[in-house]
Amino acid sequence: MSEPNFRKPVRKAVFPVAGLGTRFLPATKAIPKELLPVVDRPLIQYAVDEAREAGIEEFVFVTGRGKTAIVEHFDTAYELEATMTGRGKSLDVLDPTRIEPGNLVTVRQQVPLGLGHAVWCARAVVGNEPFAIFLPDELMYGSPGCMAQMIEAYNEVGGNFVSVLEVPMEEVSSYGVIAPGESKGSLTEVKGLVEKPKAAEAPSNKIVSGRYILQPEIMDLLASQGKGAGGEIQLTDSMAKLIGQQPFHAVTFNGRRFDCGSKVGFVEATLAIALDRDDMGGEVREMAKKMLG
Ligand code: UTP
Repeated sequence: MSEPNFRKPVRKAVFPVAGLGTRFLPATKAIPKELLPVVDRPLIQYAVDEAREAGIEEFVFVTGRGKTAIVEHFDTAYELEATMTGRGKSLDVLDPTRIEPGNLVTVRQQVPLGLGHAVWCARAVVGNEPFAIFLPDELMYGSPGCMAQMIEAYNEVGGNFVSVLEVPMEEVSSYGVIAPGESKGSLTEVKGLVEKPKAAEAPSNKIVSGRYILQPEIMDLLASQGKGAGGEIQLTDSMAKLIGQQPFHAVTFNGRRFDCGSKVGFVEATLAIALDRDDMGGEVREMAKKMLG
């Protein structure tokens, strides 16, 4: 493998959305977690918008049973559009839900065996190209977006990337953690990766935060990846095997990250984004002040 192969343009993104979302039951019994709205946009919409901004052209959703509504969200809703047009309403609000025909592909993960397995399910569509991965329940809020910042770094050094952020040491055992090498600005060399380490054994407090750029060789590693932490096939374990074979870096996102897979993180995202919105921030601030006395 020659170095230039690690710098091919990143055109495709995989969105693993086949998880069960058990932390949000009963809300997620019939509605996919990825469609829960933060203010008025579903989580998946924030991720797709971030991907588009970063130049992604093809959107690959790894879905499972009960997740079809996610795909519907990006479809043309003929009756809705006809009715709104008839009533003289603007359709601009639906613009972000339009994906170029043919550029949305779904693959199925029949059993949620873990994130690594979900990504592997997309191997035929990804083919021999580098690709991005977005976990939509990690809401990355900032401009430029997290993936745009990662692509900028990718264009400079190529290879594999994760986004990272620092958390208190006692929280690391819920996440993938990097062993950092040299740092330059927001770019850090990745020397090792471990999924859900005990706090005492963690190589750092820099956790992987739901955005990745990976070379296609990851798919061969995933094919034979055994179960890891939590009895799941972990993407982190296969990524760790790429270290030393290919360049691997982390980008510290200059922006805010909300863990919308957790209830408190979801409420935090809703409040922060509502406060930041020009159309409602003032009103929400007044309401919050009153509530807090
Ligand atoms: P989570 O660890 O948040 O799992 O997955 P989950 O099932 O969505 O939620 P909880 O923990 O039961 O509440 C992180 C991301 O990986 C996807 C999820 O859809 C989510 O986007 N995933 C996870 C899969 O697509 N397949 C899997 O087998 C596991």
